[in-house]
Amino acid sequence: MQFAGSHILSVTQFERADVERIFTVADRMEPYAHRRRVTKVLDGAILGSMFFEPSTRTRVSFGSAFNLLGGEVRETTGFENSAIAKGESLYDTARVLSGYSDVIAMRHPAAGSVAEFAAASRVPVINGGDGANEHPSQALLDLYTIKKELAGRGRAIDGLRIAMVGDLRYGRTVHSLCKLLCLFDKVQVVLVSPQELKMPGEIVEELRQAGHEVIESDALEASIAHVDIVYSTRIQEERFSSQQEADLYRGRFRLNQSIYTEHCEPNTVIMHPLPRDSRDTARELDDDLNDNPNLAIFRQTDNGVLVRMALFALVLDVVDQVDRHARDVNWYTAGRF
Ligand code: NCD
Repeated sequence: MQFAGSHILSVTQFERADVERIFTVADRMEPYAHRRRVTKVLDGAILGSMFFEPSTRTRVSFGSAFNLLGGEVRETTGFENSAIAKGESLYDTARVLSGYSDVIAMRHPAAGSVAEFAAASRVPVINGGDGANEHPSQALLDLYTIKKELAGRGRAIDGLRIAMVGDLRYGRTVHSLCKLLCLFDKVQVVLVSPQELKMPGEIVEELRQAGHEVIESDALEASIAHVDIVYSTRIQEERFSSQQEADLYRGRFRLNQSIYTEHCEPNTVIMHPLPRDSRDTARELDDDLNDNPNLAIFRQTDNGVLVRMALFALVLDVVDQVDRHARDVNWYTAGRF
């Protein structure tokens, strides 16, 4: 695809070579994300950050990524603080805000809303999550993390064995990740969920069409025994009609250190898009895994900055200028990464 000036709305717009290009650019962002070098390549550029659903890491990491490239961030969070609360349409909001920004990152609770907004926008729009539909930048950072974690284990994305666990019906991160995996070869996907929260049938079908093996299960222990990655997810309580309904499923699949030791192959990587639900009623990934070196959740969040920097650099077409506008940092930065 041509990245310059494009919206990033769904992983289905990528071919394998596009994903590889994003990962190559993400690798090149490391000196900047790891605070060894500073670049001002986006000096003067403005990111419109519009998050109409709760978000910590996606919102802040999009903003940090833009700042790390030298740009500035203007934020709108929550419907209550925006003119949408006065009845303004997505079309009008998009026409207005795209006049104030060079690129927009947006999250919205309705599936398809970010694409509708993008159609009216005068600048590229990156989907930061549209309802239960898609979360393309998360899928990219997840796959980038998978690639990096497996490289040290002599394995690759082709031939990957992954278990996705939890709310596969409403979890947009696993929807996007499954679609992205369709670009690769011979993947085995074990889908572990309560019967009522299964992966949508059309996504299972897409995986099978891509030649992948798909196993659906509602038993955690047996499903995580022979995989490279366990990708755990939170019950998406905000998508249920009531808290009581969400309570039926919360805490159903809990991974802790003793289950991991007993059932997983050594060095199985543990991932989660975060936030993990650490309340006693949930704990899908127990805190007792925090010292497990295979817990990759905070490497995922660090990688998110690299991948989002890569998306901005590609969409704003500055990849080859980043190093030209750079210098070493002045301050103490050791030990963080
Ligand atoms: C996810 C999301 O918002 O879909 N969070 C994130 O962006 N890292 C997952 C979740 O909220 O459970």
